[in-house]
Amino acid sequence: MNADELQQLDQNLNWHPCAQMKDYETFKPLIIKSAYGSYIELANGKKIIDAISSWWCKSLGHNHPLLKEALFKQIEKFEHVLFAHTTHDTIVQLAQKLTALSLNLNKVFYAGDGSSAVEIALKMSLHTRTLKSQKHRQRFIALKNGYHGETMGALSVSDLALYKQPYAEMLFTPIFIEAAYVDNLDSPLWNDANAHWLKTERILEQYADSTTAIIVEPIIQGAAGMRIYSADFLARLASWAKYHDIHIIADEIMTGIGRTGKMLACEYANVEADFVCLSKGLTSGWLPFSVVLTSDAIYQLFYDDYDRGKAFLHSHTYSGNALGASLALATLTIIEKDNFCVRARELQTILYAHMKEIADKTHLLHNVRAIGAIVAADFVWGHNEKYNRLLAQQAARIGILIRPIGSTLYWLPPLNISLQTLTDLKGLTLQALLQVTP
Ligand SMILES: Cc1ncc(COP(=O)(O)O)c(C=O)c1O
Repeated sequence: MNADELQQLDQNLNWHPCAQMKDYETFKPLIIKSAYGSYIELANGKKIIDAISSWWCKSLGHNHPLLKEALFKQIEKFEHVLFAHTTHDTIVQLAQKLTALSLNLNKVFYAGDGSSAVEIALKMSLHTRTLKSQKHRQRFIALKNGYHGETMGALSVSDLALYKQPYAEMLFTPIFIEAAYVDNLDSPLWNDANAHWLKTERILEQYADSTTAIIVEPIIQGAAGMRIYSADFLARLASWAKYHDIHIIADEIMTGIGRTGKMLACEYANVEADFVCLSKGLTSGWLPFSVVLTSDAIYQLFYDDYDRGKAFLHSHTYSGNALGASLALATLTIIEKDNFCVRARELQTILYAHMKEIADKTHLLHNVRAIGAIVAADFVWGHNEKYNRLLAQQAARIGILIRPIGSTLYWLPPLNISLQTLTDLKGLTLQALLQVTP
């Protein structure tokens, strides 16, 4: 099949995610031939840099040989057997590694994607309230501008109108509070958000007895446009929650497993959540696989004779999928062994310097900010969706995969990207920006 035929058939048959399909008439989908490291190779021979790690998941890049080896080893044994009343080496070793990430989160529940993990954490929290005869605690609190996925519960606790507006009538309504945003990690607010906190606390007090959980993307809100907020704010929010017997759900789906320079972004605020959701980078984006970590204390509430009706009867066909587990285990092993948290913190400096250079040269970007292997800056003209699409298209033509969100341009590259590729990324981003300036 030649490229034109393939694209035409794609247009006729496929419905792509997060897209107005009419746009595909004028900008045809890129035809992928292969992908390795930080590069995607197209059928026309062009190589493009995956500057957003394929929606934030390819933390060890594409086609990592050790991940491939781990996957093939598992395939030789078995690919998938239901995880109800079965177990095996791989998943037990994975659980050992996951439960070592924090002091108290020593139980692992499995799902398939990030949104499902969020649903599980919401349901578990709510379910504990029935088990503890605290049915008055039915409310969720979430952060303004937060994003937690596309299923109904996850969308309910998200605050991005673009994604939730059409379904507003079907969704439940949490209380949204505003985080104390910082320009950068050296902002005084990062370590001291007292003034902002006092205002927030006054709002929160009225919900102290009716709330089951507060859900946050710790430290940085991805889909909101890579907005970083004060570690002190998160610490105060978590300690307020603990005092009032309210759970903290840390949605570490984007931030977890080294992306921010820590295994969990919660570590920036010394927060131990009651539930941690992980996906994306957990398998370095090889397969849909997610987990919810929680504490023994929560687990014990559900633990009883079956006929007491306390079990958490949530299941997904592919919960604990063995291939995903083998990749997660191999990813965690590599991230730890090769010190990728340290590497992410080194990348922070380099990414920041590169983005700042573009901002200084073009005067088209401001508010450059970075944490770990994430850097972002805002367009001086604010949000222009048409421009975002044009920029992404031009960038792809000249060799980089980027997808600006709202008023923000960002890079979130694989943690093992080379310095030369980063320099190329800087040059090509600059070029694309200058070519399609509005
Ligand atoms: C913070 C956060 N939570 C949840 C999700 C949803 O994950 P998934 O797309 O795997 O359902 C995302 C996806 O971008 C995310 O960034």
